[in-house]
Amino acid sequence: MSTTEHADSLIDKFGRKVDYIRLSVTDRCDFRCVYCMTEDMTFLPRTQILSLEELYRVAKVFTELGVKKIRLTGGEPMVRTDVMTLIERLGALPGLEELLLTTNGAQLDKYAVALKSAGVSRINISIDSLDAERFKRISRVGKLEKVLSGIDACIEAGIKRIRLNSVIMRGYNEDEVLALTEYALDKGIDIAFIEEMPLGETSDHNRKDTTCSNDWVRNVIEEKYDLNDSAESTAGPSRYVRVAGHESRVGFISPVTHNFCEDCNRVRVTVEGRLLLCLGNEHSVDLRDILRDESKDDSDLKKALIDSMDLKPERHYFFDDDHAQPVRLMNMTGG
Ligand code: GTP
Ligand code: 5AD
Ligand code: SF4
Repeated sequence: MSTTEHADSLIDKFGRKVDYIRLSVTDRCDFRCVYCMTEDMTFLPRTQILSLEELYRVAKVFTELGVKKIRLTGGEPMVRTDVMTLIERLGALPGLEELLLTTNGAQLDKYAVALKSAGVSRINISIDSLDAERFKRISRVGKLEKVLSGIDACIEAGIKRIRLNSVIMRGYNEDEVLALTEYALDKGIDIAFIEEMPLGETSDHNRKDTTCSNDWVRNVIEEKYDLNDSAESTAGPSRYVRVAGHESRVGFISPVTHNFCEDCNRVRVTVEGRLLLCLGNEHSVDLRDILRDESKDDSDLKKALIDSMDLKPERHYFFDDDHAQPVRLMNMTGG
């Protein structure tokens, strides 16, 4: 299939339609999670990152090309100065059906009400342990109680759908699968278990030793609960099950053991303005050059986005020794 047949929409050469973008608004974070960052990170200088106006322009042009869902990512989106002004403007974009946020939750007690008013309908909150000491070990600096109060603030603010994200790692938190599930059931919110992906070098563990399969996680939950497969989708990579007798859904995101690239509907924009066509590959297009070139306008940006579809790789090859592994750390990618 050639993109010339689809002049105004984003369809790649494998026939996949892109209608979901993950927009990273900062590479910075107030945590240093062991699977995402090294302890002594250097972050991008201000001149290299897109302004809030440039981020808005990228988002607007994507919606004009049929994007229905924008998820704000980071680093940690809520540490970007004045991020709420961007979120408010994005919430008013015509054609956008869902404005979403993935966050570490540390500032949600402050922002939950404003996010809801701006039109953010679903929030995914990372939480890998319910034990304060351990939470600190995994996030290196995070305070569990701040995240727990942030979750409660979202529930109180009436955010329609809240999902916890837990990366389960052998030797770190694999004994907390049931506790995390029960916490979500108790609060009436969803939870997704995520297999750790090999993105960039980590400094404190060897991922081949710690990755824990979602089949194993599911078995642990099934020792106590009846799980019923569900066809529900959030147009993301998670497969959901329903827990008999509960409101909550349990999701499994299994990039390592069950490749889901066939259904990929998304691309990412880094805060440097690099359009990444795949999380697990380096194929990219520099949008910042176009944004900062005064001789170019939105039609040039649109053309670049449409043309980029031909670069979208078929799939990733995580942990495959025959293929190079991504060198980008997660904070540069936004997950
Ligand atoms: P929903 O809109 O709720 O479905 O969110 P989501 O699962 O798309 O987003 P979230 O930011 O919560 O990401 C959860 C996990 O899925 C993170 O570890 C992401 O890195 C991972 N993820 C999201 N998209 C992709 C993808 O295209 N490929 C892979 N391998 N992982 C992805
Ligand atoms: N593998 C899998 N998930 C990761 N995340 C961060 N780094 C990794 C990794 N290497 C998750 C975070 C957050 C989401 C954006 O990505 O826990 O929930
Ligand atoms: Fe920050 Fe999220 Fe990375 Fe943890 S996983 S360091 S909270 S960006």
